[in-house]
Amino acid sequence: TIPVIAIDGPSASGKGTVAQRVAQQLGFHYLDSGALYRLTALAAQKQGVDWSDESSVTRLAAALDVVFEGETILLAGEDVSQSIRTEEMGYGASKVAALPAVRDALLQRQRDFARAPGLVADGRDMGAVVFPSAPLKIFLTATAAVRAERRYKQLLGRGEAADLAAITADLEARDERDRARAVAPLMQLPDALLLETSNLNIEQAVAQVLAWWRE
Ligand code: CDP
Repeated sequence: TIPVIAIDGPSASGKGTVAQRVAQQLGFHYLDSGALYRLTALAAQKQGVDWSDESSVTRLAAALDVVFEGETILLAGEDVSQSIRTEEMGYGASKVAALPAVRDALLQRQRDFARAPGLVADGRDMGAVVFPSAPLKIFLTATAAVRAERRYKQLLGRGEAADLAAITADLEARDERDRARAVAPLMQLPDALLLETSNLNIEQAVAQVLAWWRE
């Protein structure tokens, strides 16, 4: 069986960056599961499909024509690496992710990322649903204030307008939706190790994951 490191946690915790670097260090593949929900939301918007229309969104999710090429993500041949990262698509992703049939439609696609020599999988339900037998499960988080600050800097770094108060409110609302939803709610599993990164930089967080992996 292929070794999988499952890293779950809330928005803007830095888990994407940490997961990618761990994958790089170990020479493992990387799954950004949030990107699949963002792609589904974008595909729906492009087709004029409402994010709450479960059967239509599920059909789009099942048929997603997506290629991951390093940092680049192609949807039906178009580079959408930037356009899926907006706050609007984060919101759309959390809407379509609440639909059970959409999650089912994306399940096998996510499992197909587990190829030799191993996989680092980043998301909300990697340890609970997609890779329940992963030998290492991590719940990576930080306080809401620290996460809002990280998202704020990320948006400024991309040259986007950003308002810290609005970001904090959006983040808290999205976390609440991710935690309270009926399917695959964001939670810390009993068999997951807690990585609280409020006082850690990326290198320190990566080093902790690698140390746990080598244990
Ligand atoms: O970058 P950020 O952490 O804000 O978002 P993301 O990881 O790209 O995920 C966007 C949204 O997709 C989340 O708010 C979740 O609602 C949903 N999601 C999910 O339900 N399950 C996953 N495995 C990954 C993301």
